[in-house]
Amino acid sequence: LIPRDATIAVVGATGAVGREALAILASRGHSPDRIRAIASERSRGMSIPFAGASLRVEAVSEQSLTGLDACLFCATSQVAKQWAHTAVRSGAFVVDNSSAFRADPATPLVVPEVNAHLIPAARLIANPNCSTIMMVVALEPLRRAFGLARIVVATYQAVSGAGAAAMDELRDQATAALAGSQLPPRVFREPCAFNVFSHNAEVDPLTGVNGEEAKMIAESRKIWNDRSLEVSPTCVRVPVFRAHTQAITVTLAKPATLGAVRDALASAPGVRIVDDARANNFPTPLKASGRDDVLVGRIRTDPSGFDPHSLDPRATSADRPHTTFCLMLSADQLRKGAALNAIQIADVAFAARRA
Ligand SMILES: NC(=O)c1ccc[n+]([C@@H]2O[C@H](COP(=O)([O-])OP(=O)(O)OC[C@H]3O[C@@H](n4cnc5c(N)ncnc54)[C@H](OP(=O)(O)O)[C@@H]3O)[C@@H](O)[C@H]2O)c1
Repeated sequence: LIPRDATIAVVGATGAVGREALAILASRGHSPDRIRAIASERSRGMSIPFAGASLRVEAVSEQSLTGLDACLFCATSQVAKQWAHTAVRSGAFVVDNSSAFRADPATPLVVPEVNAHLIPAARLIANPNCSTIMMVVALEPLRRAFGLARIVVATYQAVSGAGAAAMDELRDQATAALAGSQLPPRVFREPCAFNVFSHNAEVDPLTGVNGEEAKMIAESRKIWNDRSLEVSPTCVRVPVFRAHTQAITVTLAKPATLGAVRDALASAPGVRIVDDARANNFPTPLKASGRDDVLVGRIRTDPSGFDPHSLDPRATSADRPHTTFCLMLSADQLRKGAALNAIQIADVAFAARRA
């Protein structure tokens, strides 16, 4: 873990991810006088509760980024591009949550369950997109055991993926709708209360792929170091405050039994199985909210090749090998999809220094 006497700054401390990072650090017993809360000029002087005390927000500046052991950037790409290297130069280990450095070949893109070995040699690490992190954590045990050939994924993404203002928008719109009125959208183009819409990221008119989908494709290939992996996402927003859900159909490189797939998932770090078919108890965003693990359930062989109403042994036997499987997952994208993954990266960096 990051040592308790480390001086840590959270840049973007007033935002959804920054507040989650502070909550994790407080729960681990870090002292308020070792934590620096940094945001924009707008928030200077604001106070943020931390472990029974309060932190006074500083505006980002050269001075606010000196004397740090670690710096977690939880702000915009622009802020990261402008300030992350200043923090590195002044000696801090830096993890950036934005997309600023994710595609940079010189910056490792890390999910500790997959490629923690890249951390010790780096001073700046990019934290992947939230949807990518949870998909990669859930599929890593299958990749290790059987290889991956193709992933088809549909996402059901919480509004908090678009920041603190989007959570206010869902709350305000839902309250207004229940009172019989309508509030015009501010953060999203579509109303988010009682609605479902294609992810708000811009769509590339040439490919038809939106920005979130492009991140899932490019980032999972970079993390797994597999340029030819086939990834086909459809990203969608749903009226949920926090925690994303995904429905995944994955084709393995070599056949596996359903039993072997279950075993691989059950023993994987960062994965918790919630898969009780009798009780219809499966992953949900509410079950995942506030938790560290990626919840995985509905684990089954792909039914597209057989009649699910028959007692076809291809459908019912857990011992027959198949190459394509379906599952769903839910994970708290503010924690494992952002703040927690960033802090786990810093944990590995500090452990490597001590070793
Ligand atoms: N939300 C998620 O689930 C999620 C998941 C993975 C990655 N990310 C990424 O994490 C980053 C933060 O996302 P978020 O959802 O927490 O956004 P957010 O709630 O909108 O918070 C943005 C933060 O950035 C700060 N900021 C904005 N402009 C700034 C400036 N010029 N100088 C200094 N600070 C500035 C804001 O400070 P003020 O309050 O002072 O404006 C605020 O603290 C983004 O890059 C996002 O893409 C988010």
